[in-house]
Amino acid sequence: MKITSFKLAMLTAAGLILASCGQEAPSPQSALSEASISVPDTPKGLDYAFYKEAIEPIFIRPRGGYIGSDAACVACHTSQANAPLGLQPPTLEGDRVFWTEAQSRQNFENVAMLVNPSDPDRSRLLMAPLAPAAGGARHSGGIFWDNNNHSEYRLIAEWIASGSDSAGTSEVAEVDFDFFRSCVQPIFVNPIENAMPCAECHGGEFAVEPPANAYWTEEQSRQAYEDLVYLIDPGRPDSSRFLHKPLHPNAGGDLMHNGGRRWFSKDDPERRALEDWVKGDASGSQCPPALQFDFPPRS
Ligand code: HEC
Ligand code: HEC
Repeated sequence: MKITSFKLAMLTAAGLILASCGQEAPSPQSALSEASISVPDTPKGLDYAFYKEAIEPIFIRPRGGYIGSDAACVACHTSQANAPLGLQPPTLEGDRVFWTEAQSRQNFENVAMLVNPSDPDRSRLLMAPLAPAAGGARHSGGIFWDNNNHSEYRLIAEWIASGSDSAGTSEVAEVDFDFFRSCVQPIFVNPIENAMPCAECHGGEFAVEPPANAYWTEEQSRQAYEDLVYLIDPGRPDSSRFLHKPLHPNAGGDLMHNGGRRWFSKDDPERRALEDWVKGDASGSQCPPALQFDFPPRS
């Protein structure tokens, strides 16, 4: 997991700000009544205003350190780090650290995938930080709540219950390795016209060159896959850097990429096929037409 000093600086700044405001979690009641005015057209019918006011601050709240359960959730859970939760890297403006409205909306959608309104206590969002002795799950981030009376646990459970009774858990999209090896990896050595192959610049990471006149070994593909997965937000093509960087800015891609562009529209068949893969809808070694390459040779 890459935690840059820049991110740590942001979190320190966040700590100072939140501490100096002496903020307390706002009452969820007010948020609830505000949201009941509008028709909830949200994932799982979850209350967005409640989320924004009372739940999201929990993820950025400093906890006194940078390691394990002393760290803020966001220290490990940005979309870049690619751990589940997929929080946006917060915006830094002067000495303020915050999520913009658009970022909060995106966070909300990602977090919604981890909750189960039909049975709030069985939500992954509640089980990961909860002590296993109290019914929690094993969590690399450590234990944040000793039992389900913790105020954060209760607040989040109440928010989850705002969702529709019939909404259950979401599957985590499975970004298939076989499909990567057979259908995606060749992209990196098959440039479009007038472009350099990705391998020219990203050869040390996801776009390693194949051996001479041969296909990548299983191990090479495995390593490349591990590297690329850091640039993918499973289930969410548009927030996956792999699909965002090489897309032309006029089509909604990143404003900057030193490597030029491969796709000039979101409808590009190759990008479409990759979207299916990122969404977990494509697997195995049978490649769709847009992802069939002759090079490198397969034995
Ligand atoms: C020190 C790093 C770290 C911190 C801090 C951290 N986490 Fe995590 N968390 C991880 C990692 C790594 C994973 C993926 C592996 C795993 O599930 O243990 C994860 C997994 C999760 C999952 C998914 C579990 C599943 O079902 O797959 C949830 C939900 C979660 N964390 C919530 C939180 C919340 C909420 C906080 C703050 C209260 C938090 N985490 C703080 C590192 C961290
Ligand atoms: C001429 C060199 C060059 C080529 C060719 C190139 N890139 Fe890049 N790419 C870069 C550089 C430099 C960066 C980092 C700075 C930036 O974002 O532009 C980068 C960044 C990226 C990132 C974001 C990485 C991160 O850590 O956030 C992705 C994803 C990416 N490139 C994908 C590709 C893909 C896919 C191809 C082939 C279609 C490609 N690049 C071709 C130079 C290149």
